[in-house]
Amino acid sequence: MSTRETWTTRAGFIFAAVGSAVGLGNIWSFPFQTASNGGAAFLVVYLLAVFLIGFPTMLAEFVIGRRSEQNAISAFERLGFSNWTFTGALGVFAAFVTLAFYSVVGGWVLRYIVGSLTGAYFGDTAGYFAAISAGPGAIVTHAAFMAITIGIVAFGVADGIERATKFMIPAIIVLLIGLAGWGATLSGAGAGYSYYLSPDVDVILSNFGSIVPSAMGQAFFTLSLGFGVMIAYASYLGSDDSLPGDSAIIVVLNTVVALLAGFAVFPVLFSTLEDPTTTSGGMGTAFTALAGAFGQLPAGQVLGFVFFVVLLFAALSSSISLLEAPTSYVVDTYDYDRWKIAVGVGVVTFVVGVPSTFGITWLAFYNDLVFNVLLPVAVFLIAVFVGWVADAEAFDELGRGSVVGDVPGTAPLTTIWLWWVRVVVPIVVLYTLYLGVTSLYTGLTTGGYF
Ligand code: TRP
Repeated sequence: MSTRETWTTRAGFIFAAVGSAVGLGNIWSFPFQTASNGGAAFLVVYLLAVFLIGFPTMLAEFVIGRRSEQNAISAFERLGFSNWTFTGALGVFAAFVTLAFYSVVGGWVLRYIVGSLTGAYFGDTAGYFAAISAGPGAIVTHAAFMAITIGIVAFGVADGIERATKFMIPAIIVLLIGLAGWGATLSGAGAGYSYYLSPDVDVILSNFGSIVPSAMGQAFFTLSLGFGVMIAYASYLGSDDSLPGDSAIIVVLNTVVALLAGFAVFPVLFSTLEDPTTTSGGMGTAFTALAGAFGQLPAGQVLGFVFFVVLLFAALSSSISLLEAPTSYVVDTYDYDRWKIAVGVGVVTFVVGVPSTFGITWLAFYNDLVFNVLLPVAVFLIAVFVGWVADAEAFDELGRGSVVGDVPGTAPLTTIWLWWVRVVVPIVVLYTLYLGVTSLYTGLTTGGYF
């Protein structure tokens, strides 16, 4: 038997995982979810969701991956539980639905790159967003983004993109710090920070039913959990790596990028809009705020161009891995030509995504379907599997290579983690699922989406 490839360096693994985590979720989704869900109230629940539920779930996926040394679909079989394979398949399906609308937003980024060069959004940022985000123009840019994604997956230049991402993530951080620093000088900065950072318990309590599923979904989405991608990545890890250590670095870096995006966006929103919490209360938040910022900055066209190109790379490094999930599944199962499958799956994904160009509320429906339903279901299954089905393997595996568990059976932190994944994660996620389905159902029956 040939030995399986492993990451050549620990940093290589961490970069790949951070590359998957950092994307439109951090720079587009996080600010708009925060803006439309009560600001700091959302932020508090989101941070709790990331650290208390997302982090242990990431460990659960890492454990499955490293133990089985398989992709998300075969992993369950390899561990001896082939009737759990559907859990991996659900993740692949979630990746497919996600890519369908992710690509529409990726199309907006393409449009903003062009808009930066021509200066098209510099006057009326809200009007520009409204014009490009829905309708025939949005279908064209959705097609363009999808075509680039298909091309990369079909011709296998993904390596290049991944390598580029290593430079792109530091670039994103630097650009966001710059924008945040500039934002601090704006007249609306104080109001923006207070909305973003001072939580009001009443707001949390009175909007519990909508804040919790959004925050939880955002946490899973931004950490790329539930899709089986982290299972696959961890399958290439060596046994001497500390899973908790790696996971902590990934979670913290990803959170820093999202928080910085908020620091860049909120001062601009509160300086340029009359009531940022409602008018912008939507998916245009980050785009209009950032475009507005570039519109007022010296050399704004150049800055805007650089920023949106960097964002494009972050989005592409995510979209190729989202297309790769269903593609490699079909390739492994049916043994067709890789490029044909990539094109086929990509075209179907494009078609499925087209309705989300009909209007922002259609896009919101796709978003909420993934955030409120698919991700909680996938994470619930993973937690139950690791906590109750493959628990002995999981316990042993978490200890390997980590300081907390070098002596199996005696490591208190590993025990706490296992019970956390057994009890706390499933209960919280199930409750979230209930709230999420209720809020999706209400939206559907009251005409909130269509
Ligand atoms: N985390 C990515 C983002 O924030 C989106 C994403 C979710 C993803 N699941 C994924 C990317 C799986 C790659 C693979 O934009």
